Amino acid sequence: MSQQDYMPVLVLGGGLAGLTVALRLADSGVHVRLLAKRLLHEGSSYYAQGGIAAVLGEDDSTQSHIEDTIRAGAGLCDRQAVEFAVNRGPECVDWLIAQQVPFTRKDDSEEFHLTQEGGHSHRRVIHATDATGQAVMETLEHKARRHPNIHLLEQYIAVDIITSAKLGQAGPNRTLGIYALDKSLGKVITMTAQAVVLATGGASKVYLYTSNPDTATGDGIAMAWRAGCQVANMEFVQFHPTCLYHPQAKSFLISEAVRGEGGQLQLPDGRRFMPDHDPRAELAPRDIVARAIDYEMKRGGYDCIYLDISHQPADFIRSHFPNIVKRCAGYGFDMTAEPLPVVPAAHYTCGGVMTGLNGRTDLAGLYAVGECAFTGLHGANRLASNSLLECLVFARAAGEQIQHDLTKEKFNEPQVPEWDESQVSDPDEQIVVTHNWDELRRAMWDYVGIVRTDKRLQRAMRRVELLKEEIRDYYSHFKINNNLIELRNLVTVAELIIRSALLRHESRGLHYTLDYPDTGTNDNAANTIMVSTKE
Ligand code: FAD
Ligand code: SIN
Repeated sequence: MSQQDYMPVLVLGGGLAGLTVALRLADSGVHVRLLAKRLLHEGSSYYAQGGIAAVLGEDDSTQSHIEDTIRAGAGLCDRQAVEFAVNRGPECVDWLIAQQVPFTRKDDSEEFHLTQEGGHSHRRVIHATDATGQAVMETLEHKARRHPNIHLLEQYIAVDIITSAKLGQAGPNRTLGIYALDKSLGKVITMTAQAVVLATGGASKVYLYTSNPDTATGDGIAMAWRAGCQVANMEFVQFHPTCLYHPQAKSFLISEAVRGEGGQLQLPDGRRFMPDHDPRAELAPRDIVARAIDYEMKRGGYDCIYLDISHQPADFIRSHFPNIVKRCAGYGFDMTAEPLPVVPAAHYTCGGVMTGLNGRTDLAGLYAVGECAFTGLHGANRLASNSLLECLVFARAAGEQIQHDLTKEKFNEPQVPEWDESQVSDPDEQIVVTHNWDELRRAMWDYVGIVRTDKRLQRAMRRVELLKEEIRDYYSHFKINNNLIELRNLVTVAELIIRSALLRHESRGLHYTLDYPDTGTNDNAANTIMVSTKE
């Protein structure tokens, strides 16, 4: 590839959001280049278990899905965004069915099986057993790899967005392209484009324990922030209540659908505790369940609590959760016969780059979709299985908007400077980067977790400021590599989370602080919008 390679659209990320926007555009005749920093499938989408929330059952209604989403969002959802997502959900699921995603059907029937998860008042989660993400991603990846209008580049990590303002060009600021590291050659390439789409996923790797794969380092959020975009609601980090507690399991997720099909949470002595915390018990929204577990673990001094579905017939458990049963067996647990040890872990970034319903950010030519975006759908707490829904609905809308913008706007292929490596040398030692990764993730886990205080947040901020300084120094003296790029982004995201958390003087949804335990009145509720200082 030449150094100044132009393509009308660059999509950064090959998860459900990135593949959807790329396929939608490519099917309309637009040429798209898609970058993934690892193998294409490596991202949260592939590991999604429970499924996709959409109004598909006869006894369900759009109104009910809207109200459930807003209730879970604890007063901060944007109603327009919620209505937009819920109304368009069924059509987007139909698109996946048309692509031949093998969703699970009811026994002896053509009808799709719908499962239930926390915060939903109806069964409305369509799924492919307990490996929905894999089924969806394999189907879409197969299409994308063969599409003549899609140019796929794996093992390329985007470093930064190139803007006209950064280059000192006159006129309104806009996106001109990106710098990306070709990881196999260790060389930074310049790629220009009229439209750049961030589809880089969430940032849960900023915590020591997370259900997310290694890709979730908040790259898109940090890049947009550095490019001058607004970022919102970063204090709302969702902790999934039930990840397997085992030293080798790397926080393997035990789907909420296990609770949807009758699984109960128990203390080590076998006592069920969720009814003491919420009338919806195990099916309360995730923030409530995770906080109850945190409370019980701290109160009793337990390392974990237990999730028990062994009262259901073994065949039922095996047919509904074949992958979870198998993975647990690999760690020595038989979930058909015994409770599973579980703990909460960081799972989802509710905040992100601010966009409209059409995926546009506040920088011309830059769009954001999927977990890296803040659309207003999730408010202070995401409803289970609304994330894949968001990827599908907003990526489709962004695709339509980009097509419109490409034809409407006059745009000449830009000439931008190459990446300058003349002042840097090869890194002397990698241990600095590794050590800072560990320190950052531990500080975030210890001080910016499920229960916060101002003192803990300030303590974390002091650590982050030191790390930021060290990384800035390292970045300006040495050649970049994958780990350094990710660490630089993680530190930015950590700072955004802490600053947003310090600004919220109340407890709401996923943000719970002992200093302000009450929720303010809804009239005063506002999203926390961070305005970029353009580093
Ligand atoms: P991802 O799927 O994470 O994809 C991000 C892509 O961006 C990857 O290809 C990555 O390589 C690439 N990338 C990142 N940075 C760069 C960069 N700098 N340069 C180039 N490429 C880059 N949600 C639901 O709704 N239902 C579920 O059942 C469900 N289950 C889940 C189970 C697990 C274990 C996890 C972790 C999450 C689950 N979620 C679920 C959440 C949901 O899967 C994610 O929010 C969603 O898949 C995010 O999709 P995405 O396309 O935005 O990002
Ligand atoms: C799960 O299967 O529990 C994950 C669902 C989600 O994150 O929405």
